[in-house]
Amino acid sequence: MTPPQMSHSETESAADQPDTTLDSDIVDDRDGPDQRTMMDRTLLEARNLDVYYGDEQALTDVDIEIPEKQVTAVIGPSGCGKSTFLRSINRMNDLVDTARIEGDLLFDGKNVYDDDVDPVALRRKIGMVFQSPNPFPKSIRDNVAYGLKVQGDDENVDEKVETALKRSALWDEVEHQLDESGLELSGGQQQRLCIARAIAPDPEVILMDEPASALDPVATSKIEDLIEELAEDYTVVIVTHNMQQAARISDKTAVFLTGGELVEFDDTNKIFENPDHQRVEDYITGKFG
Ligand SMILES: Nc1ncnc2c1ncn2[C@@H]1O[C@H](COP(=O)(O)OP(=O)(O)OP(=O)(O)O)[C@@H](O)[C@H]1O
Ligand SMILES: [Mg+2]
Repeated sequence: MTPPQMSHSETESAADQPDTTLDSDIVDDRDGPDQRTMMDRTLLEARNLDVYYGDEQALTDVDIEIPEKQVTAVIGPSGCGKSTFLRSINRMNDLVDTARIEGDLLFDGKNVYDDDVDPVALRRKIGMVFQSPNPFPKSIRDNVAYGLKVQGDDENVDEKVETALKRSALWDEVEHQLDESGLELSGGQQQRLCIARAIAPDPEVILMDEPASALDPVATSKIEDLIEELAEDYTVVIVTHNMQQAARISDKTAVFLTGGELVEFDDTNKIFENPDHQRVEDYITGKFG
């Protein structure tokens, strides 16, 4: 991903949004799952979202409210629009010539498709991790520092690199080889390096498109543990084909089905134990897809 830059005005416009979390300070001090529900605040919202590639419609009338600092899983059969949905959140679809979007996509109440939004700045606040680990052919340190440098953030870089590597659960494995190439790491380490690169500029949202599907079970399990930890600080939206993974790590699950329709979105337990729609039950029990 091109590491984006956050303009000052963009930071301010996010801060200018009405504060809908008046009670969150109070609620934050308490523990327990019941309180977590009380803390739900929508950070990302799609309203009547349609996405087309040329004449083909990839997403149809999607309405969704994604809560802050939780893990939202996006599941559904191949071609149902999961990646398209993810890419519409941080405007990666802008890079596809034929892509066209209708409806609203709000980030903290602000439409990301408004004329005054700089997509590069947006992508600093909404980072992305892809299916195949894609470190740059640079040192481990420079990989993580890349996003900071592009923003012109050259203060305390080593400290920020260390923090990002610790948050990505990679520090202990690489602290003595920061000058070695990121490409020499194992696949699972490379993916954690990419996560470190995405979080170094301190985004609010991390989008992950099947981040563990190219990894072995041990590396996958590390990524899953990491995702749950990341949700303490970040809002995570993860596409996965792995139902068990969605059930294990997510708080909410969105089920897209053929035609780019969001058929059901609810607490993950509800989706996997007692979905409202027969089509969703058929999909998650493996009857199709
Ligand atoms: N760049 C593109 N140009 C044209 N059509 C595209 C493009 N990207 C996706 N599509 C089409 O949009 C639809 C949704 O694709 P998308 O990649 O979002 O699905 P997906 O749910 O992520 O699938 P998968 O599980 O296989 O990754 C498909 O019909 C696909 O062919
Ligand atoms: Mg996809």
